[in-house]
Amino acid sequence: MPSFVPVGPAPNEGQPGLSTEFFNGNGIWRDAPVLRGTTKFRPLPEVKSIMITGGAGFIASWIARHLVTSYKETYNIVCFDKLEYCASLSNVGALNSYANFKFVSGDITNPTDVGRCLAHHHIDTIFHFAAQSHVDLSFGNSYEFTETNVLGTHVLLECAREFGIGRFIHVSTDEVYGEVAADDTGLLEKSILAPTNPYAASKAAAEMMVNAYSRSFKVPAIIVRSNNVYGPHQYPEKVIPKFACLLHRNQKLLLHGDGKHTRHYLYASDAVDAFDTILHRGSIGEIYNIGSRDEISNLTLCAKLIGVFGHTNTTEKDVYAHVEHGCDRPFNDRRYAVDGSKLKRLGWTQKTGFDEGLRMTVDWYRKYGDVWWGNIEHIFAAFPSAAKEQSSPGGECSSAPSSGARSSLDEAWTDEVKTIAENV
Ligand SMILES: NC(=O)c1ccc[n+]([C@@H]2O[C@H](COP(=O)([O-])OP(=O)(O)OC[C@H]3O[C@@H](n4cnc5c(N)ncnc54)[C@H](O)[C@@H]3O)[C@@H](O)[C@H]2O)c1
Repeated sequence: MPSFVPVGPAPNEGQPGLSTEFFNGNGIWRDAPVLRGTTKFRPLPEVKSIMITGGAGFIASWIARHLVTSYKETYNIVCFDKLEYCASLSNVGALNSYANFKFVSGDITNPTDVGRCLAHHHIDTIFHFAAQSHVDLSFGNSYEFTETNVLGTHVLLECAREFGIGRFIHVSTDEVYGEVAADDTGLLEKSILAPTNPYAASKAAAEMMVNAYSRSFKVPAIIVRSNNVYGPHQYPEKVIPKFACLLHRNQKLLLHGDGKHTRHYLYASDAVDAFDTILHRGSIGEIYNIGSRDEISNLTLCAKLIGVFGHTNTTEKDVYAHVEHGCDRPFNDRRYAVDGSKLKRLGWTQKTGFDEGLRMTVDWYRKYGDVWWGNIEHIFAAFPSAAKEQSSPGGECSSAPSSGARSSLDEAWTDEVKTIAENV
């Protein structure tokens, strides 16, 4: 279970990117628990100063809170972030009281920003999370995905080479493998990459740069491909926090397509434990999948969430009372699946089951979701707005169910909901 850490004074005040007003004020983060992972390893003697890119975002802020609080005697942690729309200083607000924490405002696509940070903070290890991470937006403003995810990674690698960085942990995604058939087992790390959307393609391209710098310049890199991660602190554009916020506001959930797409979901503290394990026990040059045992369809997710909010979810009518269908993405992989046994051999295990993780997540969003990121009204739409958003090919809803198709879908739904109702 995540633990709580008290909040103290703010020694980082006055640094670029950190507003004194923010840390002196009664920010919502002062009331919130300091959520982190559960593992603790013997510190690595060669690691002293770790730069976490994207440290004010969702997953990276979990890692930052974990490493700062669990290794406060040994590791200095520098969060490097451009503070994009999805970031929040609230995610790291509580860390400001720790002497081993620094926040640096900077852009990974800018070699001067990155070089200055590496030099000034004597960085020896880079945990690279910063990215444009929302698949839906990548169908619209895809150049931004290439710029941040590919060029940004390239800049970090070049700087890592120049400054002789000892460990470069590159965070990728299960989406680089592309779609996996319903009856196929999880893919191993050596599988071919076959991304199908611009986000996944940019992450796969970034991996190619990591491989090239590993081979050509001996940059000591590790690549990590994770399943979907969920939990508190995730910007509510992603499906779980978005649906939790919608139900909290008594609004309907808008499902992409037929709702049968599945994803494997991992609670954030388990993801933290996985990254902590890879930092301390992973081998340079290796790739590690992070796999969850919980494969959940969007339909099931809706029914479970409806149940967590205390609504009846035993029949299709119960569920339809809170759900409506919308157009799917231009292309939406039905399923991703990875084989995570290589990481398990390093000692990592998934501790939080989906139902428990979902309840903790909903609880957090009910308390803090409406205020954590300021005004978030604009994101409660099927496709979030993007600069050059495209509709699906042909401008039609290709996979939302037609009224004729509805009856067979309803039968499947009823079966699925019955199963869920027994397990919630
Ligand atoms: N969320 C998931 O389910 C998931 C699953 C697998 C892999 N990943 C990967 O994990 C990483 C983190 O994902 P997340 O969901 O926590 O992301 P997020 O969108 O919550 O956070 C991304 C962070 O990167 C920062 N950033 C963006 N562009 C930047 C730039 N040019 N310079 C500096 N900082 C910049 C943002 O400000 C933000 O704080 C990403 O690389 C993503 O591809 C995420």
